Amino acid sequence: MALKVLEQPTTTSSTMVSLSKIAVSDTHGEDSPYFAGWKAYDENPYDESSNPSGVIQMGLAENQVSFDLLEKYLHKNSLDPISSRKFSSFRGNALFQYYHGLLSFRKAMASFMGQLRGGRVKFDPERIVITAGATAANELLTFILANPGDVLLIPTPYYPGFNRDLRWRTGVNILPIHCDSSNGFEITLAALDSAYTAAESRGLCVRGILITNPSNPLGATVKRAVLEQVIDFAARKNIHLVSDEIYSGSAFSDRDFVSIAEVLEARGYQDSERCHIVYSLSKDLGLPGFRVGTIYSYNDDVVTTARHMSSFTLISSQTQQLLATMLSDEEFTVEYIEMNRERLRRQYQMIVAGLGQVGIECLKGNAGLFCWVNLCPLLKDETVEEELALWDCILREVKLNISPGVSFHCAEPGWFRVCFANMSEQTLQVALSRIHDFVERRRSNQ
Ligand SMILES: Cc1ncc(COP(=O)(O)O)c(C=O)c1O
Repeated sequence: MALKVLEQPTTTSSTMVSLSKIAVSDTHGEDSPYFAGWKAYDENPYDESSNPSGVIQMGLAENQVSFDLLEKYLHKNSLDPISSRKFSSFRGNALFQYYHGLLSFRKAMASFMGQLRGGRVKFDPERIVITAGATAANELLTFILANPGDVLLIPTPYYPGFNRDLRWRTGVNILPIHCDSSNGFEITLAALDSAYTAAESRGLCVRGILITNPSNPLGATVKRAVLEQVIDFAARKNIHLVSDEIYSGSAFSDRDFVSIAEVLEARGYQDSERCHIVYSLSKDLGLPGFRVGTIYSYNDDVVTTARHMSSFTLISSQTQQLLATMLSDEEFTVEYIEMNRERLRRQYQMIVAGLGQVGIECLKGNAGLFCWVNLCPLLKDETVEEELALWDCILREVKLNISPGVSFHCAEPGWFRVCFANMSEQTLQVALSRIHDFVERRRSNQ
């Protein structure tokens, strides 16, 4: 994950050519500690044998626990993602691709999304719009749902990339729905009301709410009752509701996860025209490099417009072919989904138990590639400055890159997101033993 700074060519201000307002704006949000930690890792990455004192990357929500299953499948079926062996033809992949994407791929994706929800809902391939990852899906939806200057409401804490994806090129703003630890960071009606009123009092037009279910960074699913409340709220205010369900297959049990799709189906699709689901294969299949995402909308106009706009962010035919083959093989998907959930649960339990041994508590999680850890007892004062000082110390001294709550817009200092699925169990044990030593050192110095 290289974040290289380009070497500057020599130039004087008189020869500087100006760039667009979008290009020079800082709404991309990449100056946050979330991204700074990645850079520190890049400069000194941990490796069990070649660099055992390097930085362990626990700030990247990447799923590597089931890679062997993907590789085994590709090998067994002689599918080579590079040469496209066994695929229709080189020409078929190389020539013009219409922006609807391949029907075989949309069908496979729809069926996989249904499987992840325990077969309780069905998705219509005609409503699947393909995009280059959830990043593109979220931006594309924002372009369609809101005008520059309008706002989307998002419950905190939320994924730092939303600042870039929803705001930077669209000119749309984000207003937080403040959630806190008193109820496990659940969204409440009072918090929704207060965010909406805050926007109104500033003369801002609220166009929608975006929730992430299961949540990044909480590592927990959203309860059905909360989903019902959010849908009702969106209907009362006549605004959109986007549900980013990128971690749906990473819930440790499919029973723990209720998709907005299931709630809409149970309601006979009332109010569904304002609801849109974002999904991608970056997390559940661990394929962020393939850039495979989708928008699933219940609104015909949104589907049509999103399809037209998806011309800007298509997925290569070659990738679609490969994934259509893999995702339509039910024997593979059933086994993969089950084993992946089980491995994530195991790694989650390992980190929670390890942190518990030194008295560090985590929010009770049931999904995702990370846990939401309460390091408040290690802060000298409950301030953002102290949170950042602790983060910096853990990065430089303990050589662990974890992500501070402030980068997720968490209003309570002391919470950190710690990723556990991008490493082996051995590396996780090394990380835990570094944390143990650090906490004990810190306590004995107090
Ligand atoms: C909630 C959420 N949405 C979207 C994304 C972007 O995913 P993609 O790699 O599919 O663009 C991420 C990545 O971390 C995420 O956590």
